[in-house]
Amino acid sequence: EFEDVCEQTGVTLSRYCIELANRGIIDEDLSSIFNSIREAAKVISKLVNTAPLKQAELLGLQGEINVQGEDQKKLDVITNDVFKNALRYTGKMGTLASEEEDEPVDGARLWEGPDGSRFPLRSLQTPGNTFASSTPLDGSSNVDAGIPVGTIFGVFQEPDPAECELPDDLSKGLSEDQQRCLAGTLQPGKSLVAAGYVLYSASTELVLTFGQGVVGFTLDSSIGEFVMTRPSIKIPARGKIYSCNQGNINEWDQPMRDYIEAIRKGEGESKKPYSLRYIGSMVGDIHRTLLYGGIFAYPADKKNQDGKLRLLYEGAPMSFIMEQAGGKAITGHSRVLDIPPVGVHQRVPVILGSAEDVDEQGPETAPES
Ligand code: AHG
Repeated sequence: EFEDVCEQTGVTLSRYCIELANRGIIDEDLSSIFNSIREAAKVISKLVNTAPLKQAELLGLQGEINVQGEDQKKLDVITNDVFKNALRYTGKMGTLASEEEDEPVDGARLWEGPDGSRFPLRSLQTPGNTFASSTPLDGSSNVDAGIPVGTIFGVFQEPDPAECELPDDLSKGLSEDQQRCLAGTLQPGKSLVAAGYVLYSASTELVLTFGQGVVGFTLDSSIGEFVMTRPSIKIPARGKIYSCNQGNINEWDQPMRDYIEAIRKGEGESKKPYSLRYIGSMVGDIHRTLLYGGIFAYPADKKNQDGKLRLLYEGAPMSFIMEQAGGKAITGHSRVLDIPPVGVHQRVPVILGSAEDVDEQGPETAPES
């Protein structure tokens, strides 16, 4: 009977996770976390789709400014609650670092990082906790116009204490439990055990990796399930599309300007002129880059020396996905996944996409095997 069901529905995300757990590829905790992410994604998809019909409730500004000085949209706040609560009730979460979370949620105390970011410090009862980072509604400045937006997430497991010494300036004054909590949250992207994004667009697409390739699912709203539509996503080795906010070109450094000018004019290595495509929603721009190939960049500029995108919950998860699909992700100087975060809301320049395009732009940064 179960097989009959699968024949009718295709491989659902639930079935995929159960089968990976049965084969020992992911553990029960991770499977449970993904159940929650799946449910949260369905709710957020519904909210985004119906927002124009419930303008007063769902669209416009919340009237609050988040820790990074950005106006929060009503949907930023609502989707953050949806995502946070879905994860919290798994009972598996150590800490959730979120773009929208500048105050403690379930922790008694507050840790303040060198970049001014704060996050809750919980007393961890048992080892083996899971740590997650997320942007619940990325690209939310687009949402009032019905332009695609997304959710990005990354999942870490609690590191072996022997392998994660915090620098003195970060661990000062913290108890052992608090240090564990902090070390669990501030892990480099190369320690991610899973990452993914959900794109709310003409269809709702959920793309994920458990570190063994990249798989894509599409929400079938008639049955309320994510169904596998792309069993193995591989980014083309080279593309012909570039994606960046070219309005900032005068703020970029000379090598970045020269590179963009060259590919635009067909004077790059491929000798073909590239097309520009830019939504201004990282999830949409990366999804297209992953499927069609090419390069996405939010580089450092004169005003923003560290770029705009956040390391823990934007740069690192997307870089993990990109590398797992055969692409590359660099800051312009080094591999994004190697950077150890020192703050929850730390920013990072990001240049990612097809391996040959990224190599042409920056130094060779082969992923570690
Ligand atoms: P926001 O969530 O405030 O709309 O920011 C979106 C992010 C990211 O999704 C996108 O790649 C980038 O900011 C776009 O920034 P610019 O508008 O500066 O191009």
